Amino acid sequence: MRIFSGTSNKFLAGKIAKNLELKLSELEVFVFPDKEKRVRILNKVLDEDVVVVQSTSSPVDENYMQLFFTIDAIKRGGAKSITAVIPYFGYQRQDHMFRVGEAVSVKVIAQILEAIGLSRLITLDLHSVKIREAFSISASDLSALPVFAEFIKKKWEDDNFVTLISPDMGGVRRIKILSRLLNDIPFAVIEKNRDLVTGAVSAKKITGKIGKKVIIVDDMISSGGTIATAAKLLRKNGAEEIYVFATHPVFSEKAPQILQKAAINAVYVTDTVFVPEKKKFPKLKILSVAEMIARKLKV
Ligand code: R5P
Repeated sequence: MRIFSGTSNKFLAGKIAKNLELKLSELEVFVFPDKEKRVRILNKVLDEDVVVVQSTSSPVDENYMQLFFTIDAIKRGGAKSITAVIPYFGYQRQDHMFRVGEAVSVKVIAQILEAIGLSRLITLDLHSVKIREAFSISASDLSALPVFAEFIKKKWEDDNFVTLISPDMGGVRRIKILSRLLNDIPFAVIEKNRDLVTGAVSAKKITGKIGKKVIIVDDMISSGGTIATAAKLLRKNGAEEIYVFATHPVFSEKAPQILQKAAINAVYVTDTVFVPEKKKFPKLKILSVAEMIARKLKV
């Protein structure tokens, strides 16, 4: 097996390779003055099972183009199979038409990946279970929830005051799974509304009883609006300690300040998206999914 990394998350790719006792193969990405890219693989891939790791977080389109070109180069090199590990799958939120006239972007990406010769996809915590159906190749949607469960067990094992919180109706499936992994601890759900034009988030109602310590669970944090709004409502309803577990730290520019200022104690995310130093903040803790991905690549 050979493993290449795009430029978006070399840190995670290196950890995955280490777990597989492999070295990263060499990929040259040359950027022209007009920002076009030339991609070249520097190792032979003939008849090899080849893996390419690239998170398609911001800059989403650039990271996708780099991935497409890398897959093409590997295909032309005669690889036996090509697996893309896309730890964070960009455009996943545009998985259906919310309003008449919109594109279903995630489907377009799936079609491109298949057309250029991808054999297998491994990704994590897709926004909806339906997205996998956009692919006709093998697509695995791993989850960071077991990593979170292990961590929560160690930290709050005998704590009877913990409640899991979904910050919106879309996350109910997620907290039910996590609750099962944690011996059926109680959960509650917030009713969130997002203005489709401005993106502003509001929340007024919590369904279910909450304890003094609450753990908000989400698939991703982008603007930080969902978490900040949920935290305000939870405090108002008696929560004294609020922890956040979210798989993908997509983090738009203002998210770190919003999260640091919000009424929360700590934010746990994973390394599916690389967080540069300038976006790190004191409440942020990063857990790794490298071992889980490496385990999947072995089968
Ligand atoms: C929404 O359905 C998702 O699960 C996340 O809650 C959302 O994408 C987070 O976005 P933001 O941080 O911008 O509120």
